Amino acid sequence: MKRFIDLPVSVFDPKFTLNPYRYLNAHYADENIIGFASDNMNFLFKFDDCREVMFSKSFSRPAADDESISREIEYAKKYPARANYFQLNFTYGEPDLKLKSLMVRLMTAISESATAELMDPVCKPLASHGRLENYIEKITYLPMALYLDVCGLEYERSDLPKLHQAGCDFLRSIEGQEDEALIALSDKAAALVGGFIDSRFDKLTENDFLFAFLKEGRESGISEDKLRANLGSAILISLSNTFGVSSAFVLRSLIHNPDALQTLRNNPELCDKDSTVTELLRLNNHVKALSRSATEDCHLGNYQVTKGEVFYLYFPGLNMDPKEWREPEKINFEREFTSRNNIIFGGSIYMCIGKKLTFAAMKSLLKGFIKYLPDEAKVIEDEIEVDGSWLAERIITKMVIDLP
Ligand code: HEM
Repeated sequence: MKRFIDLPVSVFDPKFTLNPYRYLNAHYADENIIGFASDNMNFLFKFDDCREVMFSKSFSRPAADDESISREIEYAKKYPARANYFQLNFTYGEPDLKLKSLMVRLMTAISESATAELMDPVCKPLASHGRLENYIEKITYLPMALYLDVCGLEYERSDLPKLHQAGCDFLRSIEGQEDEALIALSDKAAALVGGFIDSRFDKLTENDFLFAFLKEGRESGISEDKLRANLGSAILISLSNTFGVSSAFVLRSLIHNPDALQTLRNNPELCDKDSTVTELLRLNNHVKALSRSATEDCHLGNYQVTKGEVFYLYFPGLNMDPKEWREPEKINFEREFTSRNNIIFGGSIYMCIGKKLTFAAMKSLLKGFIKYLPDEAKVIEDEIEVDGSWLAERIITKMVIDLP
């Protein structure tokens, strides 16, 4: 019996990315089905299974096999900036928890500057009339600019698209290790961001916000190289495609659910609640599929898992599991989220470092949405463009909104 069903669309198809529940809905209740297969990958999408894999010691992020290690050794000679990044960054292999906790504190401190005033210019165009050509353009660089501003890392406006592009190039290469052209691009990206950080780093003075962060890092024995690489990693892997893209998914959900928008307008204090943001991110966000591999033979329910077997946890699937959430397609600000039913930001040692920043920025953004977004706004669904090339995060690159 087939335990991973075939879907009628590829997981990369924007039709699936934009409306996954339509394809998965019928399969939640079938206990014989553990997941779905697409593009030679196996995806888990039921909440209980995904949660178990997330927290079980029998699964970890997949380790490199012998073939990819040999390939990486060859790449390292040709592409040193990329190799340097992998060696020094806390996210590769098991996270370096000392460094990770320092980065969490940095992101938390930055979150204090994600104010409603900062978000206002992104939201204001929603009060105009006619076609708002691309909401995403307005927000793309904002998280990066916030990070650089707060950290005191000087930049020109023209640096932002270059840094953003470097982030996109780097992320693509993480899923495309066999494509040397992508590796070459990611090396250039790592060199560009590394150079950017180095040239600002030496100018930092005691008065700069980053100074205390660096001092703390040095005092706890983290090397200078690691500190620099991890400041750069926020640009390379975190800021370009996380909050901004998720905010487009959230805006789309609110436009599709005018009652929820009205509830927020009538009760603006809801915008300040973590559960409001969590509910909107549950419905959709940029995180799609994260891989895990079995470190030993084990069981998932009554499915026998073999050591080395790789699964992709399909987040939009687990976040819509009707066993966990009644009427999962509806926005319901009364849902209660607990550490048991909510793994939207991951869990265990791999937990997201940008959670606090996301909450703060999303709360501010929601205030702008309810101030400016008219009830009659429509997303032009046929014109949404989704970046087709990487799976962990599916990126809306264009979202046109029709305003009355
Ligand atoms: C809507 C917003 C966001 C969501 C839903 C989200 C979700 C997640 C999830 C599910 C993971 C776990 C990955 C895994 O288990 O392999 C993760 C990890 C991570 N996130 Fe986020 N994230 C968001 C925003 C951000 C932001 C704004 C940043 C940066 C400032 C960020 C930085 C990271 C990093 C660096 C990791 C890797 C942690 C590690 O490997 O230990 N995320 N995120």
